[in-house]
Amino acid sequence: MGDDAHHVVAGALSMGVDQRPARLLILGATQGVGQALIAELSKPQWAKDLEVHAVSRQVHTAPARHIIPHQHDLDCGPIAVQADGLISLGPIRYALDHLRSRPPNDPMGAAWALSSASTDFKQDSPDDHERELMASILEDEQSLIATCQARGIVHQLYKTTLLYGGADRNINRVAALIDRLRWVPVIGRGLRSPVHVEDVAQLIITQWDSWRNRNELMSGTWRLQGGNALTYPEFLSAIAQGHGLPLRRVRLPLGVVRLALALAHRVGRLTDIKASMLSRQRQDLVVDDQSARAQLGWRPRRFSPTRDR
Ligand SMILES: NC(=O)c1ccc[n+]([C@@H]2O[C@H](COP(=O)([O-])OP(=O)(O)OC[C@H]3O[C@@H](n4cnc5c(N)ncnc54)[C@H](OP(=O)(O)O)[C@@H]3O)[C@@H](O)[C@H]2O)c1
Repeated sequence: MGDDAHHVVAGALSMGVDQRPARLLILGATQGVGQALIAELSKPQWAKDLEVHAVSRQVHTAPARHIIPHQHDLDCGPIAVQADGLISLGPIRYALDHLRSRPPNDPMGAAWALSSASTDFKQDSPDDHERELMASILEDEQSLIATCQARGIVHQLYKTTLLYGGADRNINRVAALIDRLRWVPVIGRGLRSPVHVEDVAQLIITQWDSWRNRNELMSGTWRLQGGNALTYPEFLSAIAQGHGLPLRRVRLPLGVVRLALALAHRVGRLTDIKASMLSRQRQDLVVDDQSARAQLGWRPRRFSPTRDR
């Protein structure tokens, strides 16, 4: 699926008469990309010109004085922080709520939002819940774009494949499963191309820098995948190897594994694995990220997971 049309926008960053540091608001600061962003933006070179407001429901300490943590439940309403740029790394509806809550003279000039490429793969899922979730993500994306356009906010939406790195719940979950099972059933050879959270964080920083220092930013939607694509069995092997785990792959027909999973569910086992995940092993969950490479300089690393990262 192709990415949307983009155009270069000279989105001026209003600094105000007092030349205060630029203010960035990060929603979803404890998400993997958020952790990577904060680690980078905590470095001394950012301290003079930048103030980062990092929001999550958890109590978190600031690694530097110019990083200001906010413990705030966005389900209770948006946070009253005036910022020049918004980075949304949690559910998009919180970014929407924030933008809609701001007065017309708000300085917000640019927004970056992380979303999922799963909408390309799961729109027609046999699982009702998955289909509803995909429809709601697409609706939120469209509302965010429309709101940014209406308010003259330059916006970039990144739809990524599976994210990993830091304390991720994806690759670490597969590693835990490999560790738990004596043999891992393999049903298909669909392609996977996971994206490291630090690569997305770096992309956002580069784009922020371009907007802040050159007043240049392209509005649009880009799909992002990792530096290489692996078949599902190769993906399992890379995870096992990276985590130092023995792996015994057993190729089985879908029907047999479905039956075994249904029996396991009946006795309350493997409940975190859904039947729809099994058939998806045959599906290619990769995207075309040529637009991001050509227009944004997207250069993701190859997949090489380790126990800590
Ligand atoms: N996970 C992936 O592999 C993946 C892949 C592609 C795209 N994405 C996209 O990445 C985004 C994040 O997805 P995710 O699955 O990683 O995590 P998520 O659970 O959607 O969001 C996690 C972040 O949002 C914050 N958050 C959640 N509810 C909150 C609330 N009520 N108030 C304040 N903060 C709240 C969390 O902070 P606290 O829990 O600390 O409060 C955390 O920092 C989504 O747009 C998703 O589509 C994810």
